[in-house]
Amino acid sequence: MPILIQELNYTYQLNSPFERVALRDVNLEIPSGALVAFVGHTGSGKSTLVQHINGLLKPTAGKVQVDDIIIEPKRKQDLKALRKRVGLVFQYPEYQLFEETVLKDVMFGPMNFGHEPAEAERLAKDALRTVGLDEVFWSRSPFDLSGGQMRRVAIAGVLASQPDVLIVDEPTAGLDPQGRKQMLRLFAELHAQAGMTLLLITHDMDQVLEYTNRVVVMEDGQVAYDGEPMGLFRQETLLRQFHLDLPHVLAFAWQMADQLKLTRPALQTEAELIEWILHVRGETR
Ligand SMILES: Nc1ncnc2c1ncn2[C@@H]1O[C@H](COP(=O)(O)OP(=O)(O)O)[C@@H](O)[C@H]1O
Ligand SMILES: [Mg+2]
Repeated sequence: MPILIQELNYTYQLNSPFERVALRDVNLEIPSGALVAFVGHTGSGKSTLVQHINGLLKPTAGKVQVDDIIIEPKRKQDLKALRKRVGLVFQYPEYQLFEETVLKDVMFGPMNFGHEPAEAERLAKDALRTVGLDEVFWSRSPFDLSGGQMRRVAIAGVLASQPDVLIVDEPTAGLDPQGRKQMLRLFAELHAQAGMTLLLITHDMDQVLEYTNRVVVMEDGQVAYDGEPMGLFRQETLLRQFHLDLPHVLAFAWQMADQLKLTRPALQTEAELIEWILHVRGETR
């Protein structure tokens, strides 16, 4: 399901003393099945942007198109149909759990989108298996789970509606390193196996480097960079300007390359870093 964003502008509390411009002339084209990372410091407009893609916010000016659904300032649209196809997982989604049991909570989405209870239950169970939450927890209250488990339940709640586009807004914030890795692997699998379009908002440049081929940098409500992560990481002035870190793998490899007067390698993973070091060691012996 392709996404097209044209000249999108958004102002919070328009025509009030608290007016705040959050997006300025944003243009983006995201093909079906893409995996795109969104980065940029707090307040740059990332969350505001993605909330337009599932119709939570309506443009002040410009246009958002998801497949054949067009969202424009004055147009009336079936937002329920849009939200069924575009799942949005907020920051700290566990704060939105509310049902008595985990299973009921995850069934809420499919029920709301018109599935019969039996079918909603089947979809919910599938989603709970996908996020790797053990069956013993399904009949418990979501509030008796750990933080990481609650987050899994919340994500299952979005997956149960089988969206074509999944948007995750800082999904690993507050998780421990192990939880962060598992969560990212889950999203990468959903993207690779189910062909889901995945939009990932993150502050973690290691995730950007390892999982994506396209990164959009937001800065003051505008798209400041849109392209390959390696192209961004190679431009030190841009990184400094946007307050972005180098991924650990590149920081290490490039420092080593500079010391040995070698070309800075393009690497994506720790495994590739090790391979490169072994290669360099062989060359310089
Ligand atoms: N509900 C709101 N009311 C008024 N201003 C808001 C609201 N939400 C966000 N903003 C402002 O809009 C801008 C973009 O915010 P946001 O999209 O949340 O950025 P990010 O997700 O990149 O941190 C910021 O200046 C922020 O203060
Ligand atoms: Mg945000």
